[in-house]
Amino acid sequence: MCGIVAATSRKRDIVPLLVQGLKRLEYRGYDSCGVAVWDNGLKRARSVARVAELEEQIQHEHLHGEMGIAHTRWATHGEPLVCNAHPHFAGDEIALIHNGIIENYEEIRAELQAKGVEFSSQTDTEVLAYLVRDCYHGDLLKAVEDALNRVRGAYGIAVFCKQDPSRIVVARQGSPLVIGVGENEMFAASDTMALAGETNNFIYLEDGDVAELLPESYKIFKHVGTEFEAVEREVREVQAFSNAVELGPYRHYMQKEIFEQPRAIADTLEAVREITPAIFGEEAAEIFPEVDRILMIACGTSYYAAMTSKYWFEAIAGIPCDVEIASEYRYRKSVPNPRTLVVTISQSGETADTLAALKHARELGMDKTLTVCNVATSAMVRESRLHFITRAGVEIGVASTKAFTTQLTALFLLTLTLAKINGRLTAEDENLYMTQLRHVPKAVSSVLALEPLIIGWTSRFADKEHALFLGRGIHYPIALEGALKLKEISYIHAEAYPAGELKHGPLALVDESIPVVTVAPNDQLFEKLKSNMKEVEARRGELYVFADSDTGLSSSEHIHVIRMPENYGALSPILHVVTLQLLAYHTALIRGNDVDKPRNLAKSVTVE
Ligand code: M6R
Repeated sequence: MCGIVAATSRKRDIVPLLVQGLKRLEYRGYDSCGVAVWDNGLKRARSVARVAELEEQIQHEHLHGEMGIAHTRWATHGEPLVCNAHPHFAGDEIALIHNGIIENYEEIRAELQAKGVEFSSQTDTEVLAYLVRDCYHGDLLKAVEDALNRVRGAYGIAVFCKQDPSRIVVARQGSPLVIGVGENEMFAASDTMALAGETNNFIYLEDGDVAELLPESYKIFKHVGTEFEAVEREVREVQAFSNAVELGPYRHYMQKEIFEQPRAIADTLEAVREITPAIFGEEAAEIFPEVDRILMIACGTSYYAAMTSKYWFEAIAGIPCDVEIASEYRYRKSVPNPRTLVVTISQSGETADTLAALKHARELGMDKTLTVCNVATSAMVRESRLHFITRAGVEIGVASTKAFTTQLTALFLLTLTLAKINGRLTAEDENLYMTQLRHVPKAVSSVLALEPLIIGWTSRFADKEHALFLGRGIHYPIALEGALKLKEISYIHAEAYPAGELKHGPLALVDESIPVVTVAPNDQLFEKLKSNMKEVEARRGELYVFADSDTGLSSSEHIHVIRMPENYGALSPILHVVTLQLLAYHTALIRGNDVDKPRNLAKSVTVE
């Protein structure tokens, strides 16, 4: 998603810092980028190519200055063209960058056009820049505040103006923004990673905050009604890392992240000594016994983690569990139950739909909130009473992999905790499950060793345009996740079904041209799954089966079987999904796709 970097300094040219920041934000996905500085006038360079090309352009045009703003854009309003790339200027007076969407920009645009403004882009951002100019009467902070009082929508912005060229005004509403505090210089960014090495002192702005940055000082104001009141925000010491950006021996971040899963799961489990509510926060011991229902809310891969865990919550903890797609839940009329534990799941903790759904649940009176998240400082974590931070480390590939398996690890811990509170977990069971959990990293390593066998299959997928994924029970969400991975990075149309549904429609698709990927653990549904596989075979479908070794399944003419190293019972989804990640990765590789930055997608979806 879009990225913001801004800096004002008294001691150096900040253009290299801005470019470096943009490079670190590249992984989030973008289709254009740009930098604007004050250098005896507003100067900018913009590009629809990569940041590396923008850097060349900047060198060629000798762009430098002690104050500037920079942006990576993921198009919402207006195509990815140079004219739509940020920074946007309002005449030669205001420069502005913006993450998010201004919902009422059309009416403001019409109003400004009536005053004679001629726009040079199709963006909502340029409208905001001109609105700030329209509100400017000698005080940039006041102009931004007045402009923000006029707009509806989500934004993270950074603005400067020619009349006061060492001052940057930033604001946040629904889009992440941090201030970095330096020595005689001040920074802002949409992610601390952009500023790694520049400072370890960060202030996380809250929704409704506006801040004014000068090299030696900053002031923060919060929105109260239509007024802005001065407010203090904590300066936190955060070691921002950029070394996650190193690829090491891997070809892509996605591959690196798939192979990091044993370590990520082990790290996630490291702090857990025993099954106790305390691992979810101080208030958990008080909240959990009052819970008689779970509502899980998430998007994409995180939603499939939620779906998987529903099977655990109901079977092991005996708690009814509903799973909702965040963008649907936030807009539908539902029946709230205050004894519900609302669990939001998110890798980034900034996904706009999930964050809004969490706030919606709270507004409905459900305040027992828990977030499972990979980013401790994220908005979702701050909005929830309880949280569990997965330790996947920074995930850069747009296709989520290690975030998913660490989410499952966290959700299994939550299942055991609630089962224990409900008197459904004996000490013996607890020991057994914990032993199994601690062995998962090793078991995942054995699955990763199947990579050469999986590569052997991928040439037969690469020329296909459609694929079907089948699973049953708790492995149905795993089939869904496998299909999502394949379509996301290989652009092959893939659909997943619970195998029992085949004969109710999708069987009509099956012929020799469509690969049917099947997740086949040796569980109580295996015999039924075998019948479903027969249905495919009878229609000359080509089956690619990941089967537990103790199923006894072996390859024959139209059935290709890769055997899983071990049957892992309740935790089997964590192992099976790894094979599907590898299948998607290597298929996309053969098709020559940009695996880490698939078309049309962004890493973190901070707009609706
Ligand atoms: O950061 P989140 O977990 O909230 O993101 C949710 C989805 O946008 C994300 O999982 C998306 O589906 C991934 N690209 C899937 O690989």
